[in-house]
Amino acid sequence: MPSQQDQYKQDAAEAAARIVENGMVVGLGSGTTAQRFLHALAGRLSRESLRIVGIASSDQTAALARELKIPLATFGDHSQIDLVVDGADEVVPGTLDLLKGHGGALLREKIVAASGRKMVIIVDESKIVERLGSRFSVPVEVVPFGWETTQKRLKDIGGNPSLRLAKNNAPFITDGGHYIMDCAFGPMEKPKEIAHHLDHVVGAVEHGLFLGFASEVYVAGSDGVKILRKART
Ligand code: A5P
Repeated sequence: MPSQQDQYKQDAAEAAARIVENGMVVGLGSGTTAQRFLHALAGRLSRESLRIVGIASSDQTAALARELKIPLATFGDHSQIDLVVDGADEVVPGTLDLLKGHGGALLREKIVAASGRKMVIIVDESKIVERLGSRFSVPVEVVPFGWETTQKRLKDIGGNPSLRLAKNNAPFITDGGHYIMDCAFGPMEKPKEIAHHLDHVVGAVEHGLFLGFASEVYVAGSDGVKILRKART
């Protein structure tokens, strides 16, 4: 029996798979909810005369897409993506600001997100927060060379960083060959300011604050799938 949370992830994933249209270049996110989207999309591809290509945001997603026979393309083939569908660790309603990267794929996810005309985020209701940083640390992808000094810089901006470790206690290595520092800023009043600081840390390649990327968030819960849109400011 799937847990309730798994069922919600499935509901959000299926709702997003329904909006994929013929001829689209689709950005394929990473994580357990995005994996469900890939399965739902593959189901449509096998039943309908739908032709799309996907651009994967991680090696793991690419492997699953190949397994499910979802055709893959690269940015060499298409510089723009019509629709990106990805999960998130935290979502703030209103701004649709996101925290991502708990799975370690944030760099490629952000490259994919930045190339999308539209980005739909699929989450279960547990991901909704009032402030980013309430439940998760901000993952920051850093170059292994000199990581100790990058850690110090992250500490200086209040990040309380810790090096993410793999199961064997060695540093976790991303698809891009980098390390991840999980930075516990705590609930953020001004995520833009923190993102700005992180953007300027020497040795940091990218971070998990995705501000201004999401077009819509599909939130699945006991009342079905609700679509959150950005509040006008
Ligand atoms: C991967 O690096 C992340 O950004 C995921 O998109 C995020 O962690 C959500 O994952 P789940 O859908 O598994 O919760």
